[in-house]
Parts: sequence; structure tokens; C-alpha cells
Amino acid sequence: MSATLSMLRSAPRTAVRSYSSSFQPQRKVTILGAAGGIGQPLSLLMKLNPLVSSLSLYDIAGTPGVAADVSHVNTLAQVSGFAGEEQLGKALEGSDLVIIPAGVPRKPGMTRDDLFNINAGIVKSLSAAIAKFCPNALVNMISNPVNSTVPIAAEVFKKAGMFDEKKLFGVTTLDVVRAKTFYAGKANVEASEVDVPVVGGHAGITILPLFSQVTLKSKTLSDEEIKALTKRTQDGGTEVVEAKAGKGSATLSMAYAGAIFADACLKGLNGVPDVVECSFVQSSVTELPFFASKVRLGKNGVEEVLGLGPLSDHENQGLQSLIPELKASIEKGIKFAKES
Ligand code: NAD
Ligand code: LMR
Repeated sequence: MSATLSMLRSAPRTAVRSYSSSFQPQRKVTILGAAGGIGQPLSLLMKLNPLVSSLSLYDIAGTPGVAADVSHVNTLAQVSGFAGEEQLGKALEGSDLVIIPAGVPRKPGMTRDDLFNINAGIVKSLSAAIAKFCPNALVNMISNPVNSTVPIAAEVFKKAGMFDEKKLFGVTTLDVVRAKTFYAGKANVEASEVDVPVVGGHAGITILPLFSQVTLKSKTLSDEEIKALTKRTQDGGTEVVEAKAGKGSATLSMAYAGAIFADACLKGLNGVPDVVECSFVQSSVTELPFFASKVRLGKNGVEEVLGLGPLSDHENQGLQSLIPELKASIEKGIKFAKES
């Protein structure tokens, strides 16, 4: 506990020093849905990020309060709060990175696809505003169902004539975070020592962790244990939804994961070499137009979509099984954006 507190206390000083001495570019990050369960802790984590010079917090309501609160933290980022549709343009103008955790979360018994009817419309209108007010920004899509909301955003951007496939990301980092934690727990090692690619999409069986490629391979884990870890990773979101018993889905671990992914995007923009994270992006790795895999990030967003590497038989089966579901979710998003 005291280590955590001292880390937080020293973060601002480190941030100011490294910012002022290394001439990092000014970076504006905007969070859409900033007053929500994910939005609030994510706002705090982005305020702590020394790469952020301007932090713009937007929601339909409540953001002036969140912004005032977060703005008192002793780091360099200037925080502004915007509420209501008439302030959306101002919130977005000049953004380098837009993070979208806007929309409704699951309740027990729901699938992510059950959120489509409400969240598709929210994502569509926010994407139209991004196309208008900050067409060059990178976009990190958190709103579910990610397997459909990313294709929706892509269609909106195409209609607006500014789609750049290098700049649109579905955030699947929480699947990687979970795979690392669950594997580390089973193998009795530190999660920080483990890395596991998670590919496919972000719902149920479309989440495919590649434990055969784990960086710290434990000889003691059996095939059955790997299958159980795969299932737990695929059901990680549901585990939290059920534990929260009607009070929403993952917010704190998602804010952590979202902050990791946003930091990677900013590092890429700033020219830091070899920044690699998994993300759901436009892809030719499989027959599907969008797919999550390792992606190298650079000054323009996606620099390279990396291949899957060698798969175990179990992973190969998982890949074949996920294709029809992921294909249907992608097509549903495209159809919605084209027809609505
Ligand atoms: P929440 O209800 O706590 O917060 C959502 C926020 O979005 C609210 O503050 C709401 O006012 C805001 N909002 C609604 N419509 C908006 C609009 N048009 N413009 C701006 N803001 C708007 O929900 P949450 O727990 O923060 O979850 C948000 C979304 O993130 C859900 O769809 C959830 O399923 C998804 N999620 C994704 C992942 C992932 O791994 N990608 C993980 C967890 C949650
Ligand atoms: C998650 O994986 O935690 C999110 O997609 C939220 C959910 O509905 O499970």
C-alpha cells in the first residue's frame, strides 16, 4: 500500500521533469464517455501520463465535475470538461487521440451483442463528430460490442471520406491483461514477467489467447489447464459482470488496460520504436476484414499488422470456430452503418 502511494506521489514530479527536459510533443487526448465507470478512472490515469499535455473530458453530463476533480492532480496535463452535444466539437478539436468508452455496459445474462441496439447509435454519432472535428486523430474504441463498433466507425469514416485504417483501433488490451494474470496465477510467476498474445475479437469464443506463445512458458501446465485458462480468459468479462450483479461490467481493470493501450499509441506517435500491442484493426491476417492480433505502432498509428505465428492444435481449432461469429458481428456493424 505504501509503495503504491509513494509511486503515485512521485509520479507528478517524474512527469514534470521528463516532460520539460525531453521536449515531448504536445498531445491532446480526448475521452468520450469520461463521466462513466471506465471514463472516470481512465481520466485519472491519462492525467498521470506524462505524454499527455491536454486532456479533454466529454460526456452527455457530469464532465465539468470530473474535470475539476482530476485537474487538481499535480501533473502537467491541462484538463477541460465538456458536457452535451453542443460542446462535442470543442472537446474534439485538435485531438491526437480519442478514446471512446461511451455507451451502456452489460448486466448479468446479457451478451455484448445485446448492447448493439443502444451502443451502435452512440458510436455512430460520436464517429461522425470525430470525422468532422479531428479527422487525423487515432481512435481507441472501447464501447461494446467492439466486434461491431469498430466496423461501424470505419463505415462512418469511409462515408466522410477520411477513413485511415491505420488510425482505428478496437481496444482488446483487457483480454491480454486477463490472460497474463490468469496464466501467472496458475504458473505461479509474476504477471509482469508474462506476455500472451490474444487474437480474434472481443466477445466469448472470438477471444483467442495464444498460450502456446507465452513469453515465460511453464512446463508444469497441462493441456487441460491451458484449455481452462483459455475459457477463463474468454469469460473474463462475464466473471466481472456476474460479480457486480447488475452494477455494470469491468471498469477499473478496463481503465488500466485502456491507459496501457493509449500510452502505447502515444509512444508510437512520438516515434518510440518497437511498440507492439494486440488490437482489433483492419487486417488481412485472416479472411475477415477486421481481426485482433499484435500490431506495431508508429507515427501514423498502425505501422504493421503482425501475423499469428505458429498455433497449437487447440488454438487452430479455436481460430476456425471463431471465424463465423466474428464475421457475423463485423457484417452486422457494417450493415447498420450503411443502412441507418
Ligand atoms: P457507464 O454506463 O458507467 O459509462 C458510460 C458513459 O457513457 C456514461 O457516463 C454515459 O453518460 C456516457 N455516454 C452515453 N452516451 C454518450 C454519448 N452519446 N456521448 C458521450 N458519452 C455518452 O459504462 P462503462 O462501464 O464505463 O462501460 C462503457 C462501455 O465500455 C460499455 O459499452 C462496456 O460494454 C464497454 N467495455 C468495453 C471493454 C473492452 O474491453 N473493450 C471493457 C469494459 C467495458
Ligand atoms: C469486458 O471484457 O470486461 C468488457 O467487454 C465488458 C463486458 O461486457 O464483459
